[in-house]
Amino acid sequence: MISEPILRGRDFLSNLDLSQDEYRIVLETAHAMKRGAFRDREPLKGKTLAMIFEKPSLRTRTTFEIGMYQLGGHALYLSNAEIGLGTREPVRDIALNLERWVDGIMARVYLHSTLEELARYSSKPVINGLSDLLHPVQLLADYQTIEEVFGETRGLRVVFIGDGNNMANAHIQCAVLSEVELEVITPRGYEPNALILMEALERGAKVRLSHDPRRVRGAQVLYTDVWVSMGQEEEASQRRKIKDFEGFQVHPEMLEEIDPQGIFLHCLPAHYGQEVVEGATLHPKSRVFDQAENRLHAQKALLYHLLG
Ligand code: CP
Ligand code: NVA
Repeated sequence: MISEPILRGRDFLSNLDLSQDEYRIVLETAHAMKRGAFRDREPLKGKTLAMIFEKPSLRTRTTFEIGMYQLGGHALYLSNAEIGLGTREPVRDIALNLERWVDGIMARVYLHSTLEELARYSSKPVINGLSDLLHPVQLLADYQTIEEVFGETRGLRVVFIGDGNNMANAHIQCAVLSEVELEVITPRGYEPNALILMEALERGAKVRLSHDPRRVRGAQVLYTDVWVSMGQEEEASQRRKIKDFEGFQVHPEMLEEIDPQGIFLHCLPAHYGQEVVEGATLHPKSRVFDQAENRLHAQKALLYHLLG
């Protein structure tokens, strides 16, 4: 049984836009979507989602577009080359136009403040499809995957190793909701956002920051992401960064150190030879392609609750 839509008209810019109860309901809906709920009904019939992309995407674009289609709605792809956020016209005007035509806006942007501006001026829900600060829809799929393996997440040892980037920040926020024991291992100088960490700790999240890759030992979930995120590809700084991350690569020997029943996750795309090697994503402990599949189910759940 899926509940009636519970987030009608709301924005989803961060995982903490959901209460713990709402987070539970969205994940239960995601599991039900995967089992085939609504396969022959169309809860979003006639609804349209605008999808704005300032950066490239495989998973986010494909899963939002197919997700809308499977729920009976329609998705519209708007590249930044076409609409020129803040260059061809102000973000405010784009929001004030789109809200007249569509039922929701999903945006992948450089600056998180662009999402906040879209949300300020659009009366229709705005969904964060990745910003420099957070990637909250990814975390819904990640926790759907983790729950498929472990059921209950409270007290699980989740280790994020790599750059203190948008994925690390989103993990820290989600730890408030999932009640896992999260450790974020980064090189010194690459720690996650301090304000996000402080807020999560104040809200009871169990998060520890450290700098030693050997601390992956015993992890039930080991997670990594690229060292060089989209928009940071400038040649010289990239080379410096890769050097600073020596010892932080996930490889099959590292996966031997985690819990025998532990799993390895990566949001993808992978930069093979940097944060991960192919032997890790193809390792028996890897669940990265289940995780990618779950982007579809988790986002269908989110879309149903926001736009239904
Ligand atoms: N993980 C993820 O968001 O993938 P894309 O960049 O391909 O959308
Ligand atoms: N940190 C990565 C995540 C990609 C899904 C980036 O922002 O490029």
